[in-house]
Amino acid sequence: MAKIDITEKVVSLAKRRGFVFQSSEIYGGLNGCWDYGPLGVEMLNNIKQSWWKEMTYRENIEGIDAAILMHPRVWEASGHVENFTDPMVDCKECKGRFRADQLEETDCGNKGYKGRKAIKCHQEGKFTEARNFNLMFKTFVGPLEDSSNVVYLRPETAQGIYVNFLNVKEASRQKLPFGIAQIGKAFRNEINTKNFLFRTREFEQMEMQFFIRPDEDEKWFEYWKEQRVNWFIKNGIPKEKLNIHVHEKLAHYAKAAVDIEYEFPFGFGEIEGIHNRTDFDLKRHTEYSGKKLEYFDDQTKERFTPFVIETSAGASRSFMAFLLNSYDEEEVVKENSDGTKSTEVRTVLHLHPSFAPIKAAVFPLVNRDGMQDIAANITEDLRNYMRVFYDDSGAVGRRYRRQDECGTPYCITVDSETLTNNTVTIRDRDTMAQERINKDNLVEFILKKIK
Ligand code: GLY
Repeated sequence: MAKIDITEKVVSLAKRRGFVFQSSEIYGGLNGCWDYGPLGVEMLNNIKQSWWKEMTYRENIEGIDAAILMHPRVWEASGHVENFTDPMVDCKECKGRFRADQLEETDCGNKGYKGRKAIKCHQEGKFTEARNFNLMFKTFVGPLEDSSNVVYLRPETAQGIYVNFLNVKEASRQKLPFGIAQIGKAFRNEINTKNFLFRTREFEQMEMQFFIRPDEDEKWFEYWKEQRVNWFIKNGIPKEKLNIHVHEKLAHYAKAAVDIEYEFPFGFGEIEGIHNRTDFDLKRHTEYSGKKLEYFDDQTKERFTPFVIETSAGASRSFMAFLLNSYDEEEVVKENSDGTKSTEVRTVLHLHPSFAPIKAAVFPLVNRDGMQDIAANITEDLRNYMRVFYDDSGAVGRRYRRQDECGTPYCITVDSETLTNNTVTIRDRDTMAQERINKDNLVEFILKKIK
């Protein structure tokens, strides 16, 4: 299957099954913005919860949830007002606007030139001179829209952590090394958005800032790189689909940076960055706020500004990677009603069970002999522990196929045998194998498998 087809198919499945919709679709959509539907929000929450547990269920990492709007001086101190820019060019012919550093990979805006890249238009002199465009969204606090009331939608969650360094240290009584983690929305007014959820103007980050002694930066950089790669692998991304890209050109705050990249159908793309941000941010906030963001080591009696190792994962990009990675079309043998066999293609999401939006679906095989009531009771029992879907419509084979497309790891069917011995069939999404178990053991069985 051509790689590009997978993205198109996944985008289509995402809409059909309620994972992701275009933002404001009934008005024609808003470029670079997407909405998570009923299954998408469950899956996204599962990813975020997995990250949160992984990062904060440790004795030396605390969580916070800072406001999106912050004092405008934060962004002067962080360097974003000055440096958070992309070079932009305009095409004099099609009036399109492009990132000057991405012309090789961006399509030309003129519909008449199918397959043409923007670099060609540049070579033909169609573009204006490049000028820097700041990616922060501006808005105003209060009713007056003047420059003294400007605030920004945060372009990264990291700054909410730095400005709370002293608060968290004092409230939690943490000692170095310790980290502060946060999940939240961030906003960037990208010149060009593309590739579904990959480059959007509104997205969610899962960031952790780990505060350390300056002389331990290399050790902790390596430690967090390994930890974060392992999180993707243990949640279902094959090692060979990941790449570590070492940055040679560094952001204004970084001494070292690597991207953890996933092999998307369009090529390798960053899903998480690990950065050695040195003492840049804490020192800049000390300078701009006048508050000393420092640390006093009781044992060595030294006072210093900690270094920071940042792990910055995209929740939205991780979602896209996990979704694409799980998608499969498999040829399966189907038993027909006349006893003959034929093959059909089943579309299935092999999501890690802990990320699957629905953990189990419950079906009465037929709608008689009280099977519906038993199935409804099982559904209610399971609902105390997990998200469950009850379905009594259509042939059971079609119900399985629907759940395969939703990535539901287990389907439970109540049949005539249930009426006599209390057992149900439980079907595994990946192997399609069925086994019979006592319905009273379902909760324990599924919880053990989806952990
Ligand atoms: N906090 C780093 C980033 O947003 O890329």
